[in-house]
Amino acid sequence: SNVFVLDHPLIQHKLTYIRDKNTGTKEFRELVDEVAALMAFEITRDLPMEETTIQTPVVETKTKVLAGKKIGLVPILRAGLGMTEGILRLIPAARVGHVGMYRDPETMQPVEYYIKLPSDIEERELIVIDPMLATGGSANDAIHSLKKRGAKQIRLMCLIAAPEGVEVIQKEHPDVDIYLAAMDEKLDDHGYIVPGLGDAGDRLYG
Ligand code: PRP
Repeated sequence: SNVFVLDHPLIQHKLTYIRDKNTGTKEFRELVDEVAALMAFEITRDLPMEETTIQTPVVETKTKVLAGKKIGLVPILRAGLGMTEGILRLIPAARVGHVGMYRDPETMQPVEYYIKLPSDIEERELIVIDPMLATGGSANDAIHSLKKRGAKQIRLMCLIAAPEGVEVIQKEHPDVDIYLAAMDEKLDDHGYIVPGLGDAGDRLYG
C-alpha cells in the first residue's frame, strides 16, 4: 500500500485544534467534519473525467464532468461517522455502508457488532473512514469483512495513525492505499496513539 500524508496547511492547522484537549465537543465535531472534507478534496484528485458539450450564455463549448465513477463511503462506527457528512458534501452521490467495530478494552481485540452495506459494493470504489488507526485491528477486520462481501477497490482514510497500524494494513492489505492527515509517533501501553487526539469516538459522542 501507498501511504499519503495530506499535509495541506489548512488540514494541519485544524488537526492541531483537534488534538488540543481544551477543544470542546462542538468545535471538535466541526473541525473533524472540515478536515474530512479537505481530505476528500485531495483524495478525489484522480477521479476519472469525461467530455461533455454545453451551451454557455455565449457559445457552445466542450468541457468535462466526472465520469460517474461509483463511490462508497464506509465509516467505521462510531468515530468514522464524524467524518462522513463532510465528505458527502463534496461527493453527494456516494452511497454509505456502515461497519460497527469496538475494541474490547481488556484484550484490545476488535469486535464487529454491525454491518450494512450498499448492494453493489463490488462495483464501487470504497473509502473506509476512521479517525484513528491505532493497532490497526479495527480497520484490518473491517477491510477483511468488505472483501469477503465482494469489495474490490478499497482505500483507507484516517486522521492519524500509529506506525504499528499502518504496518498491519500494509501487510494484510497491500492493495489498500492509506490517506492520513498525520503519521504519529507510536502507541502507548493502552493502545492509544501518541501524541494522538484521545478517543475520537468519546470526544465526538461522549
Ligand atoms: C477507536 C477508533 C478506531 C479504533 C482504532 O474506536 O475510532 O475505530 O479504536 O483502534 P485500533 O486500530 O487499535 O483497532 P473505539 O473502539 O474506541 O470505538 P468508538 O469509535 O465507537 O468509540
